[in-house]
Amino acid sequence: MSATGREVILGVGAGIAAYKSADLVRRLQDRGYHVRVVPTPASLNFVGASTWEALTGRPVRTQVWEDVHEGAHISLAHDSDFFLIAPATADLIARIATGRADDLLTNLVLASDAPKMVIPAMHSHMWNDPATKANVETLRSRGFVVLEPDTGRLAGNDSGPGRFPETNRIIEEFDSMTGHKRDLVGRRVLVTAGGTREAIDPVRYIGNRSSGKQGLALARAAAMRGADVHLIAANMDTSAIHGITVSNVESALDMREVLKDQFASCDVLIMCAAVADARPTQKLNEKIKKASFTSIELETNPDLLAEISTTKTNQVIIGFAAETSDHIESARSKMQAKGLDVIYVNDVSGGAIFGKDVTHGTILLRNGEDIALKEVSKDALAEILLDHAIRQLG
Ligand code: CTP
Repeated sequence: MSATGREVILGVGAGIAAYKSADLVRRLQDRGYHVRVVPTPASLNFVGASTWEALTGRPVRTQVWEDVHEGAHISLAHDSDFFLIAPATADLIARIATGRADDLLTNLVLASDAPKMVIPAMHSHMWNDPATKANVETLRSRGFVVLEPDTGRLAGNDSGPGRFPETNRIIEEFDSMTGHKRDLVGRRVLVTAGGTREAIDPVRYIGNRSSGKQGLALARAAAMRGADVHLIAANMDTSAIHGITVSNVESALDMREVLKDQFASCDVLIMCAAVADARPTQKLNEKIKKASFTSIELETNPDLLAEISTTKTNQVIIGFAAETSDHIESARSKMQAKGLDVIYVNDVSGGAIFGKDVTHGTILLRNGEDIALKEVSKDALAEILLDHAIRQLG
């Protein structure tokens, strides 16, 4: 299992429906999945590797003979959380059923113990052939989820069972296989992430060590659970984010503008960003010369959370606290002062947590309850915090 729990291998077989899987890639990405496409060599006749590479931003391989030193058939299998094979041709189903390993995809299927879903697409005669039926039975008996194809127009002028299902149906079935909750459908979740930068001059800034990983985990988890998510990202790489509206900001004042714009229409605000508490007083357009770079005069930034919470109507507000001492007491008073429903307090002594995939800290609730989390992934914390948000939403 990968650290994120969201790595999907999309195996593509050599059927004309391969082009429909391009839409599937996008829809999976919209749900926060990281998709890697592994086509069969023959499927490249229908859709070329460049299409998959452009859609996923990841290299595409079809054989175990490429980059042998990386042992891709084992490492990719190990990192995958789910397999989706779409379209699956009669031949691909037969090869998987007999345990063949004659290309990268079939090697991965054998090497991975992740849950697997197969979406057949073929002519009705091939689908109804006893050989295919037996192969499908074999796959099902081994725990593969094999979808019944749709009935309708097939390649050429024929029609009957064997048609590749609509993307919506595949996504619905995939959601039920992965067991992901869909409890934020119809909700708007606003997440701030990263760390603001306050310009000293055109080249220098005051910043902090926030990587944005926790905020991104929250935004992705909310999107997976069906929310309409807006991420206000301060100085982080947002190029690989799909299915989430992103506003890139630099300073606390930039963030304040977007927050003011978006807050009224959201149901949940998760203020994960590390906002710089002060900014240089002077706005300089020229670089300060070394000889005169001896001190910086600062002025206090507004407390964005405290400010926005005064305009709260029905929103649930979750804040974060970074502390190096008296964690619980400090976080409780921040909760009070900033009008929060939930606060997660991190012990950041010695720079712990920044840039890491795991976190440890305490969740404090309005009713006085404390929930200590020993060591959890940032993805797991995201799910836990969203559970609390949903409870508060009622
Ligand atoms: N926060 C904010 N605006 C600021 C500073 C912080 O909205 N100018 C938010 C953070 O996003 C976080 C929470 O307030 O959700 C607490 O941030 P933290 O840095 O722990 O607390 P501060 O209020 O800055 O207090 P201190 O630095 O004194 O601990």
